[in-house]
Amino acid sequence: ERDRRRVSEAVIRRLPKYYRYLMELKKNGVQRVSSSELGQKMGLTASQIRQDFNCFGGFGQQGYGYNVAELCEEFKKILGLDRQYNMIVVGAGNLGQALANYSGFEKEGFFIKAMFDVNPRLIGMSIRGIEIYDVDNLRSYVASQHIDIGVICTPKEKAQEVAELLVSCGIKYIWNFAPIDVVLPDDVIVENVHLSDSLYILCYRINAKS
Ligand code: NAI
Repeated sequence: ERDRRRVSEAVIRRLPKYYRYLMELKKNGVQRVSSSELGQKMGLTASQIRQDFNCFGGFGQQGYGYNVAELCEEFKKILGLDRQYNMIVVGAGNLGQALANYSGFEKEGFFIKAMFDVNPRLIGMSIRGIEIYDVDNLRSYVASQHIDIGVICTPKEKAQEVAELLVSCGIKYIWNFAPIDVVLPDDVIVENVHLSDSLYILCYRINAKS
């Protein structure tokens, strides 16, 4: 495998889409796919796909196309979906509870181990077996458990301080749903999910048409 640090942001952003399309092909019993077929489905050119794949060694296309099942395994490894991740959610309101209620993440190896909130009415409740604890107990909880990812589902005004709390507890990976970009040390990996950015883009496209 090539040096991961040299993979461009644009290629990284396409990885989930490759994985999604390939898993779909596999599910539908497709055994081989050429770069032009895959490109057609994904709205990319065949050469773009080959270029992207070359960042990871090319996956040895032989004869007619790539072996779909093998490619799925490769992408699973590249994305790191071949292991388990333990997560905690901070902010057990609407979104936090929705994440906890979704069983799909577990099937992919992402386990929400606990949730934390400041609201006494939520503390002590559990969602699909996932307990909501007082955020005051977060530090001791993290010290006694192996937690990989901290998920931020608090109001945006609290997101930065919650992020800093998570990092001070030793959590290095943050999945942030609050609509601000949290600022953290360089060794912390943050993925901001701005749902409304996506909605704004839809809105732009609606209005750019007219
Ligand atoms: P919510 O108000 O239902 O839940 C927020 C929870 O965070 C509350 O239970 C509150 O007690 C808790 N909280 C506040 N300060 C805290 C702290 N310091 N530590 C721990 N918990 C704390 O809000 P909702 O709808 O769940 O949204 C959460 C975040 O996600 C917001 O930033 C929102 O903008 C964003 N978001 C939510 C969407 C949704 O569909 N609900 C969609 C897009 C973004």
